[in-house]
Amino acid sequence: MRVVVSGSSGLIGSALCRALEGSGHDVVRLVRRTPRPGESSWDPPAGTIDTAGLGRIDGVVHLAGAGIGDRRWSPARRRLLVASRVGTTALLARTLARLDPVPRVLLNASATGFYGDRGDEVLNEESPAGTGFLADLCRQWEQAVAPAAEAGIRSVRLRSGIVLSAAGGALARQLPLFRLGLGGRLGNGRQWTSWVSGEDWVRAALFLLEHDTLAGPVNMVAPEPVTNGVFTSALGRSLHRPAVLPVPATALRVVFGRGLVDEALLASQRVHPVALEAAGFAFRHRDIDTALPAILAG
Ligand SMILES: NC(=O)c1ccc[n+]([C@@H]2O[C@H](COP(=O)([O-])OP(=O)(O)OC[C@H]3O[C@@H](n4cnc5c(N)ncnc54)[C@H](OP(=O)(O)O)[C@@H]3O)[C@@H](O)[C@H]2O)c1
Repeated sequence: MRVVVSGSSGLIGSALCRALEGSGHDVVRLVRRTPRPGESSWDPPAGTIDTAGLGRIDGVVHLAGAGIGDRRWSPARRRLLVASRVGTTALLARTLARLDPVPRVLLNASATGFYGDRGDEVLNEESPAGTGFLADLCRQWEQAVAPAAEAGIRSVRLRSGIVLSAAGGALARQLPLFRLGLGGRLGNGRQWTSWVSGEDWVRAALFLLEHDTLAGPVNMVAPEPVTNGVFTSALGRSLHRPAVLPVPATALRVVFGRGLVDEALLASQRVHPVALEAAGFAFRHRDIDTALPAILAG
């Protein structure tokens, strides 16, 4: 396949591009700077994409977006989080719908943030959206795919949980403290964390590109979500360090702001990968105790 990838310089995008190329697919990276060979340019704020540079394409994976957990959600940051996801998806979906022929498939990033803060409720792809800024953002992000779906492009909405990788993202940010033995649960630790190994995320994306039957929302999470307390203990064990210094919710709110803390860091989402498992996808990392040592060794 010839696959266009946006956000290709990011944690997931760079791993996905490596895997696609390793599997013999052609990758066109959609970049916001001057393109090099194998790349095409777009300018999301200006609403333009160099479609001539894309050529005839089979699939698109849209991963671009300003980092949700990178900084406090000031009003300006919230606007950027929305524009860089909803705006870019709308631009891409409209553009793809006008191509002749249209690509066969669009995998569009979204997040388990779609479900909001749901306590112990077991969630699957049929579960309704939650409430709050992040849930609203995810809902709009997913709806922005509509022009592509209406044009007959198989459109998959990737509701990713926390992607665990030693190379970056949430896990890599926690590692320095945990390695010093200064790690601990966040808040009361009872909130559910839906996670997926970076390796399984990439394998699932390849599976979704290749399996023509799957469309609509797909939870990109491992089959066994854990509470933050269980995750914290597992990480401490994997690093052979104590992980008993809890970080109080109030301290988190002072540092990261209430929105990011209550809707992302402390939000509880117990999400199951029903669509992927029903389609026959086999996870390599199903439970956190076997996943973490493999991820940390990788
Ligand atoms: N990692 C996770 O745990 C996780 C969990 C749930 C959902 N997701 C979602 O999955 C997608 C990929 O995640 P990731 O962890 O790979 O993210 P990432 O490492 O932050 O990379 C995102 C990429 O998006 C592009 N980008 C950054 N700011 C942008 C802006 N203002 N406008 C347009 N593009 C911008 C950049 O690529 P270029 O410079 O190449 O354009 C960047 O490398 C994101 O949408 C993220 O929200 C990730």
